[in-house]
Amino acid sequence: MRKALVAGNWKMNGSLTANRELLAALDDAVQGSDAVAVAVCPPAVYLRDTVAQLQNSPIAVGGQDCSDEEAGAFTGEIAAGMLKEVGCEYVIVGHSERRARQHEDSAWVARKFAAAQAAGLVPILCVGEQLEDREAGRTETVVSEQLNAVLDAAGVAALDRAVVAYEPVWAIGTGRTATPDQAAEVHAFIRSRVARHDPAVAEGLRILYGGSMKADNAAGLLALPDIDGGLIGGASLDAEAFTGIVNAAVAARARG
Ligand code: PGA
Repeated sequence: MRKALVAGNWKMNGSLTANRELLAALDDAVQGSDAVAVAVCPPAVYLRDTVAQLQNSPIAVGGQDCSDEEAGAFTGEIAAGMLKEVGCEYVIVGHSERRARQHEDSAWVARKFAAAQAAGLVPILCVGEQLEDREAGRTETVVSEQLNAVLDAAGVAALDRAVVAYEPVWAIGTGRTATPDQAAEVHAFIRSRVARHDPAVAEGLRILYGGSMKADNAAGLLALPDIDGGLIGGASLDAEAFTGIVNAAVAARARG
């Protein structure tokens, strides 16, 4: 069975003091949750302190973005190799907030994905449709385009060392979660697209759900066969809320 992953995307939130408290509480709370992998993705400036505080913890650390370039004159950017050097295991690529604000297109995201893997990081590739796409019946077209950019550039075998996060844009930070049926449909679609290229890779691929996942709706989503964990924004900033989601994932895995 795929090991579930619950990853917190802190976005542009936190402070040295708040992070220390949150991480201490999380570290306490996740002891014994070995059936599920847990990660936090703080802002880049906090990565080193986060890694240091979690040195003896099962919680892994990830970046929120990386450059598609290895090094050079790219002011403000952070190379995947730098994230790896300071102790990251994961990096989020193609988050919808960056696709929108930084105008990252799928080809660019695919290059970031490749750069992350070249540096030895596990990319968490975000895909998902806007509300108008869903309403126009274009969800599968949009998700395919985002996924195909990576499949075409990196090849299906690359997904063996990656995680996909399905995040309907209309559900992010809005309190409006996809229903389990809506999420299940897209997760199954993503897996079937990958299976067309390689069924074994598809079977092993972890596909997370993201978009207003909270402790009280996590169980319903995580019980579904194609949902292998969550990418959590708002609720990852609160130890109790985040732990509630981790516990829901542990319970879902225990039920098999
Ligand atoms: P949310 O964010 O949980 O606050 O909706 C999820 C994400 O953007 O990864």
